[in-house]
Amino acid sequence: MGYEEITFEKGTIFLVTGGAGFIGSNLCEALLKRGHKVRCLDDLSNGKQENVALFLDKPEYTFIQGDIRELPICMKACENVDYVLHQAAWGSVPRSIELPLLYEEINIKGTLNMMEAARENQVKKFVYASSSSVYGDEPNLPKKEGVEGNLLSPYAITKRVNEEYGRIYTRLYGLDTYGLRYFNVFGKRQDPDGAYAAVIPKFIRQLLHNERPTINGDGKQSRDFTYIENVIEANLKACKASHEAAGEAYNIAFGGREYLVDLYFELCEALDKKVEPIYGPERTGDIRHSNADIGKAERLLGYEPEWSFKRGITEAIQWYKNNL
Ligand SMILES: NC(=O)c1ccc[n+]([C@@H]2O[C@H](COP(=O)([O-])OP(=O)(O)OC[C@H]3O[C@@H](n4cnc5c(N)ncnc54)[C@H](O)[C@@H]3O)[C@@H](O)[C@H]2O)c1
Repeated sequence: MGYEEITFEKGTIFLVTGGAGFIGSNLCEALLKRGHKVRCLDDLSNGKQENVALFLDKPEYTFIQGDIRELPICMKACENVDYVLHQAAWGSVPRSIELPLLYEEINIKGTLNMMEAARENQVKKFVYASSSSVYGDEPNLPKKEGVEGNLLSPYAITKRVNEEYGRIYTRLYGLDTYGLRYFNVFGKRQDPDGAYAAVIPKFIRQLLHNERPTINGDGKQSRDFTYIENVIEANLKACKASHEAAGEAYNIAFGGREYLVDLYFELCEALDKKVEPIYGPERTGDIRHSNADIGKAERLLGYEPEWSFKRGITEAIQWYKNNL
């Protein structure tokens, strides 16, 4: 079962932080389609006004432009909210290596503010974005919750600290928190531009514009690329999860493994391009292989991802062809 059968009471209010970004805007869209009230909080630092404009004509949608570093804004945003889906953060491992202090402020302090505001407003569930980067240099595959290595970047530290606060907020204050360790999410509206763009939209844009993409390293690194629909399912199922499952973090992936170089040539084929990539230096702070054991989310959240990499990439490519 995906998420089609999950229902919430009429009048349920969801707060999506980071709702002007890639994952957040897809969550807003899925919730609005199901008739729920959605409040989006975003400072538009990395998100896009156009991802807000998409929904502004819907009476169930409200947009608050604000910064999660400011507690009063978080408090106001959480008023009367049933579920918080907290996605706001600065992403990108390399950028966090350049800006560790900013990452601490936004990703750690901002998330703590959101948890505090959710607790104060007696929110039912606080579901938040963590990341596969918390596995650091742990070499064993598949990655399993509880077997983490040394962290490799400030970004990974921020996500790990979020998880510790999540655990504490459940234990000490009774706020049901669920950390979702996303593994390389992809899908429509993921930003293909800029130095810190994710690899799938970046390669697609470059190939569509007849540019030569650069693969960092030898291309033999692997990832558990996860289609956005699976992430939506995980968020909705976490909202329905038991109190016993709270205070924990869960791998959210498909459970597959794609090598970067294979992904590259698959994209070339799908886009009908014959372009040899440039092989550049490896990126500092990068994990070599990443592939998830999703058993914990299956058991405790009822997560059953329906979108394989192949199925997802076909949809994503079609979207970029129509929208780039
Ligand atoms: N995309 C992935 O593959 C992936 C993987 C692992 C974890 N994550 C996590 O998932 C979440 C969403 O990621 P995304 O890919 O949609 O990123 P994104 O950059 O597209 O979206 C993040 C949003 O948060 C907003 N934001 C940033 N700082 C803010 C602040 N101080 N106050 C309010 N809003 C702020 C941005 O403007 C943006 O719209 C993030 O927490 C990210 O770390 C993403």
